[in-house]
Amino acid sequence: MASAHPVSDLADTATACAERLRAADSVLLASHIDADGLTSAAIAATALERAGISFETVFAKQLDESEVARIAATDHDTVLFTDFGSGQLDIIAPHEAAGDFTPVIADHHQPADATTEYHLNPLLAGLNGASELSGAGASYVLARALAVTAQQSPDNRDLSALAVVGAVGDMQAGVDGLSGANTEIVAEGVDAGVIEESTDLTLYGKQTRPLPKLLEYASDARIPGISNDAAGAIEFLSDLDLDLKDDGEWRCWVDLAADERQVLVSALVQRAVKSGVPASRIDELVGTSYQLTREDPGTELRDVSEFSTLLNATARYERADVGLAVCLGDRDAALSRARQLLRNHRRNLSEGLELVKTEGVTVEDHLQWFDAGTDIRETIVGIVAGMAVGAPGIRRDLPIIAFAEKSDSESKVSSRGSHQLIRNGLDLSVVMREAARAVGGDGGGHDVAAGATIPTGTQQAFVDHANEIVGQQLGDTAE
Ligand code: C5P
Ligand code: C5P
Ligand code: C5P
Ligand code: ZN
Repeated sequence: MASAHPVSDLADTATACAERLRAADSVLLASHIDADGLTSAAIAATALERAGISFETVFAKQLDESEVARIAATDHDTVLFTDFGSGQLDIIAPHEAAGDFTPVIADHHQPADATTEYHLNPLLAGLNGASELSGAGASYVLARALAVTAQQSPDNRDLSALAVVGAVGDMQAGVDGLSGANTEIVAEGVDAGVIEESTDLTLYGKQTRPLPKLLEYASDARIPGISNDAAGAIEFLSDLDLDLKDDGEWRCWVDLAADERQVLVSALVQRAVKSGVPASRIDELVGTSYQLTREDPGTELRDVSEFSTLLNATARYERADVGLAVCLGDRDAALSRARQLLRNHRRNLSEGLELVKTEGVTVEDHLQWFDAGTDIRETIVGIVAGMAVGAPGIRRDLPIIAFAEKSDSESKVSSRGSHQLIRNGLDLSVVMREAARAVGGDGGGHDVAAGATIPTGTQQAFVDHANEIVGQQLGDTAE
């Protein structure tokens, strides 16, 4: 973290990994099913392709014993794990020792208790894996090494666009944008002409949401009479001295000229001030945003956070193939299928959020939790939990834990914390791993967002263990 050149700290490892990949007969590329995992796979696949290395791609929800065994049974001599692998090194290492395959890992999750030679992970270089480099970022560092070691053209800097989508998809960007090694990737993307960095409204949906929806759904801003208020948002916009409709249809933020944007932002800020919204939250209305310059304006792909949601909408619904195709450039069949899946994903997120708001959470001494059973898909219950924090009745000062049914015999656990809690000592990757192991399951992830799989029926015991561990981590700073 102290280094001036964070990506360079990973350069030697990246070079070693690149050389190992070049020496492979054939590579199995295995990646994680979310926005970061898909962009990781797309970056790695493009780099392998350009380097002339033969490979095949597979996706998995979780790398467990049986998944790694399936991977080991294939006849590839080398397995490139992206956006997972570090947390499962203890499962991978015995296969390496048995000569099943040589692992090459580009990941950013907390490593399990084992080591391997070709292991590219920001945490091993003193960087923060939850905020300074994502799985796609680690894959990008590897892709750059593959090009540089072979003095190959293209130099793979165009892949920085996908790396930024992955980082933003893993929630690594704050109001001021990305930080740490991520900023070097942004700089390379700007240089290469694929990324544009700007100061803009921070609300989600600038490219594709009609203005009233952009304002109504901006729940983080919590501006009374506008956020979560369809009629209020329309009234606010109609009162402005601007022509915000085109042929009777509301325009989107991206359609506005600079002076129109200025008027709208000023009015929004004035309204927030008048309604008593705290200054800190008003400051967050404007911040750093990233656009992909090669994508068409007004599409989900132009804005990195909308792009990442589009990818989650495919991967989290067993259609990683669709998301990967979009990342690899398919703007026809795959993109329209992805848009269909996005509508479904958005509906599920909003129904899930409604459910949590209505049913509420159970508050323990050091955490709050809810069990969605079969009402929320286990692959999105973590996203819903994160979005629910701050809604009425859901506290910001306690970590949130969510359960959803995975199968008849297993339950999925997701957890989310705040940066304040992390500063106070919270590490959810440890909480998830230890509490899960105590009830016969396993887990891991990042300090601020982690997950686990546990046997059905052990939820209460898991909550008790987790509550105790969180209490220990927060020590005196807990209530
Ligand atoms: O697989 P894993 O790294 O990819 O997923 C990260 C998850 O953690 C994302 O779903 C993201 O929403 C969540 N996260 C978060 N807050 C952070 C960092 C990550 O909610 N600060
Ligand atoms: O789905 P994903 O994890 O990419 O969502 C990231 C964030 O984007 C969510 O936490 C939410 O704040 C926002 N979002 C939204 N409306 C959606 C999807 C995502 O506001 N339909
Ligand atoms: O699924 P969810 O979005 O809650 O996952 C949060 C983080 O925890 C992700 O980075 C995911 O890879 C990680 N995780 C894990 N082991 C599990 C479940 C989730 O490492 N069993
Ligand atoms: Zn990731």
